[in-house]
Amino acid sequence: MNKKIYIRTFGCQMNIRDSEFVMGILLERGFEKANSAENADVILFNSCSVRKHAEDRLFSNISGLKDLKKKRSNIIIGLIGCTAQNYKEGVFSKVPMVDFACGSGNITDLPEIIKDVLKNRCPIVAADKVNEKRKELFPKYRNGNFKTHVSISEGCDNFCSYCVVPYVRGRERSRRQKDIIEEVEDLANRGFREITLLGQNVNSYRDSPLRGQSLCRNDFVKLLENINKIDGIKRIRFMTSHPKDASPDLFKAMKNMDKVCEHLHLPLQSGSTRILQLMNRGYTAKRYARLVDSFRKFIPHGSVTTDMIIGFPSETENDFQKTMTLMNEIKFDSAFTFKYSPRPPAKSAELKDDVLQEIKDDRLKALINLQEKISQKRNEPLQGKVLEILVDGRNKKSPTTLTGRTRTNKTVVFEGNKKLIGKFVDVIIESVTPHALKGRMV
Ligand code: 5AD
Ligand code: SF4
Repeated sequence: MNKKIYIRTFGCQMNIRDSEFVMGILLERGFEKANSAENADVILFNSCSVRKHAEDRLFSNISGLKDLKKKRSNIIIGLIGCTAQNYKEGVFSKVPMVDFACGSGNITDLPEIIKDVLKNRCPIVAADKVNEKRKELFPKYRNGNFKTHVSISEGCDNFCSYCVVPYVRGRERSRRQKDIIEEVEDLANRGFREITLLGQNVNSYRDSPLRGQSLCRNDFVKLLENINKIDGIKRIRFMTSHPKDASPDLFKAMKNMDKVCEHLHLPLQSGSTRILQLMNRGYTAKRYARLVDSFRKFIPHGSVTTDMIIGFPSETENDFQKTMTLMNEIKFDSAFTFKYSPRPPAKSAELKDDVLQEIKDDRLKALINLQEKISQKRNEPLQGKVLEILVDGRNKKSPTTLTGRTRTNKTVVFEGNKKLIGKFVDVIIESVTPHALKGRMV
């Protein structure tokens, strides 16, 4: 009988895509998909190490399988992705019930690794391919059938001082444009309408396998232009942009590409230039603000969202107030806000984590409050407007309530039939909250 696989995913969109990719290659090698951990022969945890909180949740979830593992001693538990790469053999002392660890760079070897563990029942660590380009395997499997993610590059060369990603996902490697286009054409032929291009820093995408070449700012724009030509695709999104590499050329090009959505996710991280320097972000608060002005000049109705870290080592009240002031000036549509946590081997882990927990809590609360008010204000002018929505799901508690996204990536809630999931509909916005727009189909 074919062995059944269950994958639990933690972390970012990149991990969601990696899990889908892993399921795809395993299905093509004769494994089956289990609908729950209880029914599986192999349980994979695709892990995130970016913040300590994510890692703690991961370890406690794995430990929660103790009873299941006792009941069914044949079950195999594998840790894959960032945490596997970071801890390597150390995984087995952290979570002893894990049978094998496999870093993101090694996931194309998973079918062999799993077969090996099933047969020989010995612990395996595969984490030697952190800097290698992934094999182009094009597995067919996708989680949905109308919107999906497409990875354009792996790894990161930026070494922001707080960030573990360059260590666990390795140096930046761009996929060839030809391979990306082939994948998107196939998706379009299969009925997918929205794609989100993924990379840690999409703006440094380079259509070349050679390293050490000078950075060509236009490669990402060229890629977008070529995807914009693909019949069937109606919406193109991308993330994440890096303020040191994003440029007005991109915004100007976005304006002229009908399928590229009017949304920019541009992590700011801090409003204090001193802290930005310590973070090794490569821009000042002023330069960041100018960049957003430029985006809004080309795309006046676009949305801008961001990531923020509070409580970075040595962050004073004055630094934090600079963050509050800048957030007030820029007026993001929404922001993901995080409390700093040291992530060795990232450089800032060597600095003293000296902002007290209570102060971090207070600052986080103040920032979230401010952003809620700003998000509400950003959403209010949308009342009375008719917006095109791609319907993407329904409310579990109230099955006639559907959800969808605007081109600017705002969530819209409205009443409708579930047959509309995957379709584009026009909705008039009747009321707004900081996190969603409520409307009625027209
Ligand atoms: N502590 C807190 N937040 C972090 N992020 C990355 N590393 C850390 C860290 N050590 C946040 C950043 C990044 C987002 C994905 O996670 O804001 O943009
Ligand atoms: Fe981490 Fe900075 Fe790279 Fe983003 S750009 S993945 S924050 S090192």
